[in-house]
Amino acid sequence: MIKITIVICTILQIYVMADNSVPRVCIIGAGIAGLTSAKYLKEERISFTVLEATKYIGGTWRYDERVGVDENGLPIHTSMYKHLRTNLPKPTMELLGFPIPKEYPSFPTREMYFNYIKAYAKLFDLEKYVKFLHYVVHVKRLQNKWRVKYKHISSQAEYEEDYEYVIIGSGHHSTPNNPIIPGEKIFKGTIIHSHDYRVPDPYKYRRVLIVGAGPSGMDISLDVAEVSKTLVHSHHSKVKFNTPFPPHYIKKPDIKEFNETGVTFIDGSYEEIDDVIYCTGYQYSYPFLDESSVLTITPQSVTPLYKYMVNINQPSMIFMGLIVRACIVVAIDTQARYATALIKGNFTLPSRKEMMAEWQRSVDALRSSGRPISHIHLLAEKEVFFEHKDRTRISYF
Ligand SMILES: Cc1cc2nc3c(=O)[nH]c(=O)nc-3n(C[C@H](O)[C@H](O)[C@H](O)COP(=O)(O)OP(=O)(O)OC[C@H]3O[C@@H](n4cnc5c(N)ncnc54)[C@H](O)[C@@H]3O)c2cc1C
Ligand SMILES: *[C@@H]1O[C@H](CO)[C@@H](O)[C@H](O)[C@H]1NC(C)=O
Ligand SMILES: *[C@@H]1O[C@H](CO)[C@@H](O)[C@H](O)[C@H]1NC(C)=O
Repeated sequence: MIKITIVICTILQIYVMADNSVPRVCIIGAGIAGLTSAKYLKEERISFTVLEATKYIGGTWRYDERVGVDENGLPIHTSMYKHLRTNLPKPTMELLGFPIPKEYPSFPTREMYFNYIKAYAKLFDLEKYVKFLHYVVHVKRLQNKWRVKYKHISSQAEYEEDYEYVIIGSGHHSTPNNPIIPGEKIFKGTIIHSHDYRVPDPYKYRRVLIVGAGPSGMDISLDVAEVSKTLVHSHHSKVKFNTPFPPHYIKKPDIKEFNETGVTFIDGSYEEIDDVIYCTGYQYSYPFLDESSVLTITPQSVTPLYKYMVNINQPSMIFMGLIVRACIVVAIDTQARYATALIKGNFTLPSRKEMMAEWQRSVDALRSSGRPISHIHLLAEKEVFFEHKDRTRISYF
């Protein structure tokens, strides 16, 4: 009996592999988005490939002390810095069915969290599905399929393959959003973006200006203030911070202009500055997508998407983690299950017209409240917490 079952299974498997109607999925990136997608697709026995530009899984969580380009001339993807701890408590960064070790502190170090991701990939045996050092250069819609062109980084060999679905997990914390400030060119000090910030050491005894008060701005301010002579923090956040800044911390409004030796702020005050770190966020960038994806991609928004993820004009293209102000890990995990259920055929999407109508309603709501289109990716208050077994889970749909 057992033997017969095995034979039937084998035949079935061969049949499934050869069947053209079985969808093939291309996952771009082996960060949390790519890995969770791989896990769920694998569980449903859906055929897929993960293309990853670097030699590593874990995306931005893999610390690399280098900045600029790597040994293959590829821009360094990660924005991780040495002293980073998660800025969210660990239950909100937990992947479903894979508890974060009890002995981890509430806010794990980046290294602990990276190890956690590696352990996830190991437990579910995901690495063997990843084509490392394969960089996606072009994704094009062609005869009801996605033609994906990718390059092997070291040999430069180019490949083209057709897929029914594309899951985009290439992240959006890699392309700096640099401000344009008058006088920057004549300023004699150093200027970097937080993407290239690694360690505070170069700022020892220096007068440092940090621009921006998002998570990176707050965090890097504290890291640098440990060693710097002064820490000038320019931002316009209305949040009342309880952050225990040291006495040499100086809060300033937005910058008016640079001159050779320092910065004048919009309140007319001036500070001499040696080094500047722009913590001004990141831009959306999908250089591999062309017009056949029928999307409007700007540095601040990708539209139109259904439920933050499905390309309404080409619904076999799915974006992962394209959300801001969210518990992004739990959201990605949920999205990966949604994408898998969709590809599996467990449910069908509404018609294009209906999806567009829903999307249009959210755009109208933004417009009428005077908010920018970039807020279309803002999850924030739409996150709903509920109890799942013995753990707090977050739902999005
Ligand atoms: C400094 C920093 C701190 C953060 N801290 C937290 C935190 O405390 N808590 C939290 O929940 N979130 C945090 N985040 C958010 C973080 O982005 C997510 O936790 C998560 O890493 C997103 O995973 P991802 O897979 O979407 O993207 P990434 O981790 O960016 O992975 C994308 C992968 O795609 C690959 N790739 C990109 N383009 C291509 C291409 N063309 N071809 C092939 N491969 C490609 C990249 O090499 C990379 O491996 C932080 C982000 C940053 C930058
Ligand atoms: C920069 O501007 C400040 C404030 O106006 C001024 O005191 C300082 O001398 C200027 N630096 C140079 C090099 O011109
Ligand atoms: C799809 O449906 C089957 C049958 O109900 C279920 O077992 C499976 O978990 C579903 N898959 C996903 C990814 O939701």
